Amino acid sequence: MTSELSFEEIKKHTDKTSTWIVINNDVFDVTRFLNEHPGGEEVLLEQAGKDASEAFEDVGHSSDAREMMLKYKVGTLVASERKPEQPKKSTVDWKETSESSESSLKSWIIPVALGLAATIIYRLYFMS
Ligand code: HEM
Repeated sequence: MTSELSFEEIKKHTDKTSTWIVINNDVFDVTRFLNEHPGGEEVLLEQAGKDASEAFEDVGHSSDAREMMLKYKVGTLVASERKPEQPKKSTVDWKETSESSESSLKSWIIPVALGLAATIIYRLYFMS
């Protein structure tokens, strides 16, 4: 259903009447979404016709946002123009990714646990 698109085609859609952006090698038509984007239409228009993967990841979009964008997908980049996958993206090869996702989970747990411990100590000693 989705088609393979090249930047030659994508670059034709860079204004409010038709706005396409590329995120992680997928092409999105966000024209209908411009008004609804919580981050504003300007940022999307700025990225129109371009690869916005980095800008998109920098914002730290929620999983809701990632789900929402599927509605706007119109195709994928042609193989010759694709970039290597961002490590964050959940694609097919689970065996290969399981190790890295495990270690990223660990790297979250430690700071969160420290933060919790600090909060508890603070409350016990300073707020009674
Ligand atoms: C189809 C693509 C996109 C979708 C569906 C989307 C969706 C969203 C959603 C739902 C939020 C609210 C916060 C959250 O749930 O994470 C958000 C916030 C934001 N987005 Fe996007 N976004 C897209 C692309 C982009 C791109 C390409 C950029 C940057 C160039 C961008 C910049 C921002 C910014 C700066 C915010 C933060 C607004 C704030 O916290 O005040 N977004 N986006």
